[in-house]
Amino acid sequence: MRVEIDREAVVDGRPVGLVMLKTFYDTAGYVYYIAVAKDHRRRKVAARLLRHSLEYFSELGMREVYASIEGGNAESEGLFRSRGFVRTSYREVSGKYGNLRALDLYRRMLVVPGETLLCRLLDFT
Ligand SMILES: CC(C)(COP(=O)(O)OP(=O)(O)OC[C@H]1O[C@@H](n2cnc3c(N)ncnc32)[C@H](O)[C@@H]1OP(=O)(O)O)[C@@H](O)C(=O)NCCC(=O)NCCS
Repeated sequence: MRVEIDREAVVDGRPVGLVMLKTFYDTAGYVYYIAVAKDHRRRKVAARLLRHSLEYFSELGMREVYASIEGGNAESEGLFRSRGFVRTSYREVSGKYGNLRALDLYRRMLVVPGETLLCRLLDFT
């Protein structure tokens, strides 16, 4: 999968966090991966990376942002849910994009069984 943009968080010259982003259909942003070094967790590094990502998507004119999380990944779920992401479903996505595009989105987001797809609408005017 081609990642369109990745960003690093750097502390004291050392990379401690990373976020990888993609966009689909000019409307949907996707947080493909976000990770923070173990010794820098719980210091809001991911929260800042995610905030910058949402701003980036908003500037591009995206309407919504997706993230998929593995079952049992409490920190990842906590991160996205605390920043306004809610669970969505194939039915909901196909309601917005149609069946074929929804299938294509799930394929391109590499959502596999056992993962939960989350979505957050972006307010931009
Ligand atoms: C998920 C991850 C990126 C969070 O990074 P972080 O820098 O520690 O997160 P932050 O300090 O910015 O926390 C932001 C929010 O995430 C949630 N969170 C973070 N760690 C959590 C944990 N261990 N348990 C529950 N919620 C957690 C909280 O809601 C937190 O908000 P708060 O501090 O206001 O309570 C990090 O744990 C990680 O790299 N995990 C391994 C990689 C991974 O699983 N990535 C997700 C796949 S896309």
